[in-house]
Amino acid sequence: MSKLLHVSASPRGESSDSRALAGAFLDAHRRAHPEVAVEELDLFDGKLPAFGHLAAQAKMAVWGGGQPSAEQQGEWDAARAVFDRFAAADAYLFSVPMWNAGVPYALKQWIDIISQPGWLFSFTPDAGYSGLIRGKKAAVIYTSGVYQPGAPLPYGADFHAAFFNDWLRYAGFTDVAEIRWQPTVLTATRDTDKTAARQRAAEAGSRF
Ligand SMILES: Cc1cc2nc3c(=O)[nH]c(=O)nc-3n(C[C@H](O)[C@H](O)[C@H](O)COP(=O)(O)O)c2cc1C
Repeated sequence: MSKLLHVSASPRGESSDSRALAGAFLDAHRRAHPEVAVEELDLFDGKLPAFGHLAAQAKMAVWGGGQPSAEQQGEWDAARAVFDRFAAADAYLFSVPMWNAGVPYALKQWIDIISQPGWLFSFTPDAGYSGLIRGKKAAVIYTSGVYQPGAPLPYGADFHAAFFNDWLRYAGFTDVAEIRWQPTVLTATRDTDKTAARQRAAEAGSRF
């Protein structure tokens, strides 16, 4: 059975705008593909390990062609377990609200944990980075309260979709669908915008 992993980067639970769209996407996807198992990964459930001194030392040891030390091995293994859960899926849905023009810190923490040499990417001085996540597709839901593409700078800049789309490219994804609902707050038409966004999410979910 193929597996779709929904990676949620909003801590707002039932109030979450991106989760509402993810729900529409997943309901439609389940109807179109009942054979696909959907798994939820809540990045704000408090279970992500830290990626600090020992893990960063381990990364640089591996990057230099070596091995983590005995002291570093525990944090390196904890990072590997997070990567393995990610890599076990065949397809991905990401729910990504904008936080301070970028992505929520739990998503950045997760990215910093799983983006390791030999796991997510390889590197050569001649060719640069190559993503190792190949042949898998992704869909991303982007929400922001005020920012929208083309907005004047006082309404925010995009280090959000720009960053996350680039991480997907760096990881090796080439087949990426985007569903945007922007803005979710600074608008007099929130309810109709939400209905339209849920509709777009459902269409993307049944096509996915
Ligand atoms: C901590 C935090 C930071 C935010 N920063 C921004 C921001 O920089 N620009 C913006 O347009 N909206 C910002 N917002 C608003 C959210 O992006 C917006 O409400 C979005 O719809 C939330 O999605 P969610 O309900 O799935 O969490 C922020 C919200 C929070 C909670």
